Amino acid sequence: MPETSTTVPSPRLHVVDHPLVQHKLTQMRRVETPSERFRQLLSETSLLLTYEITRELALQQVEIQTPLTTTSAPELVDDPVVVSILRAGNGLLDGVLRVVPGARVGFVGLYRDHDTLEAVEYYCKFPPMEGRTVIVVDPMLATGNSAAAALDRVKAENPEAIRFLCLLAAPEGVASLHSAHPDVDIWTGAVDECLNEVGYIVPGLGDAGDRIYGTT
Ligand code: URA
Repeated sequence: MPETSTTVPSPRLHVVDHPLVQHKLTQMRRVETPSERFRQLLSETSLLLTYEITRELALQQVEIQTPLTTTSAPELVDDPVVVSILRAGNGLLDGVLRVVPGARVGFVGLYRDHDTLEAVEYYCKFPPMEGRTVIVVDPMLATGNSAAAALDRVKAENPEAIRFLCLLAAPEGVASLHSAHPDVDIWTGAVDECLNEVGYIVPGLGDAGDRIYGTT
């Protein structure tokens, strides 16, 4: 467990309480923050969250030549695969890929049925993931329905490990994802108070897709 994260209330939930993450999250929550600034803050925050979520990636020793000598030095065994849950997940991609530029990227398109709040899939495209570490990204873990559906799809590809990265989580979403996928750790910037009656995180930041892309 990284020292920079606080674990509440489960050892599989990692709240990244780094001051820069918390500061940027507050700017994103502000209703007056425009899309351009929101995207920039989200990209910066996802870079910081990725730093934490990749902390335990496997390393191997390789023989290299420096300008002075040969030596043995650590490098990643494999780049992780990143899977973005469309469309808001794409707001996190840029920051993730700045830290792990060699990562291959998959997409799952899911929308929430407004009446049932269930996830409905409309698109799926993955790179090879067998035996790899997969980081699934979506800014908002609300009901957990979309995340659980995306993880079902990812698991069918037999990755070695799966981690879930979000900016904000609701306690209901954390509980539901833990129950559907108890083997998947969650990294988030904060766990908010609750979901409202239409499935939005409170206090939250509104609809992440709308905030990123300026739609309503
Ligand atoms: N999705 C969002 O974009 N915001 C929420 O608050 C919940 C789900």
